[in-house]
Amino acid sequence: MVPRITAGRAARPDTDPSRRHSVVENQSDDEPTSKAFKMSIPENPDPFNLFNEWFAEARTCGQIAEPLAMTLATVDERGMPWPRIVLLKEVSERGFVFFTNLGSKKARQLRANPKASLCFYWMPLDKQVRVLGQAELIANDEADGYFATRERESQIGAWASRQSERLAAREDLEQRFEKYTKEFEGRDVPRPEFWSGYRVVPESIEFWLRAPFRLHHRRVYQRQADRSWVSHLLHP
Ligand SMILES: Cc1cc2nc3c(=O)[nH]c(=O)nc-3n(C[C@H](O)[C@H](O)[C@H](O)COP(=O)(O)O)c2cc1C
Repeated sequence: MVPRITAGRAARPDTDPSRRHSVVENQSDDEPTSKAFKMSIPENPDPFNLFNEWFAEARTCGQIAEPLAMTLATVDERGMPWPRIVLLKEVSERGFVFFTNLGSKKARQLRANPKASLCFYWMPLDKQVRVLGQAELIANDEADGYFATRERESQIGAWASRQSERLAAREDLEQRFEKYTKEFEGRDVPRPEFWSGYRVVPESIEFWLRAPFRLHHRRVYQRQADRSWVSHLLHP
């Protein structure tokens, strides 16, 4: 039998469908006295301090295969949002950096409309972070610096892929990979001009922490005109 999706996290196998929902709703850690219920998202003058704390936890907990993964949403000319996963490669008070092909769908959308949002979900920690802001291209020397750290095959892959364009057959891509492998034989692979990074400069950052009874903790930070941050709590 296909398990009901409403069962949510930590669904335990239950052969009686009528009981399945209540089993999950009554998880034993769902107590008003439990740690998750009592803990809070502390008021912190700088959301990057809090982000760095949570991010470090995600990177070191050893239970998250890809802690750098974040959903990036951009919008097309009809206002249709397009989500996809990219990897966070740098975070600082300036913003959140990812790398991509500048001919890709996302890059074309960002050129037309730089509004972007990011969403992290670190499941074993029961934490989510949402970022809204504007994406800007990073400087060429920053992109060169990061490109140089990539594995040679990935550098060649960046040349070979015309990301998001229609591919007639897989062999075409393989041939392009071979072509650039030969072209750069015996020398460093330069960064293609059509490959760089974007920095999402946040105007708001929201932190979410699971708590029992769906009474989750939420705190949103909003950037002020003087660049300082103000935060408040949100209903879950
Ligand atoms: C775990 C994971 C990490 C990814 N990291 C990146 C990335 O850092 N940059 C990127 O351009 N695409 C990355 N991708 C691929 C994108 O999700 C997406 O398929 C691709 O960028 C094309 O998106 P677009 O057509 O909307 O531009 C990643 C996919 C996954 C599943």
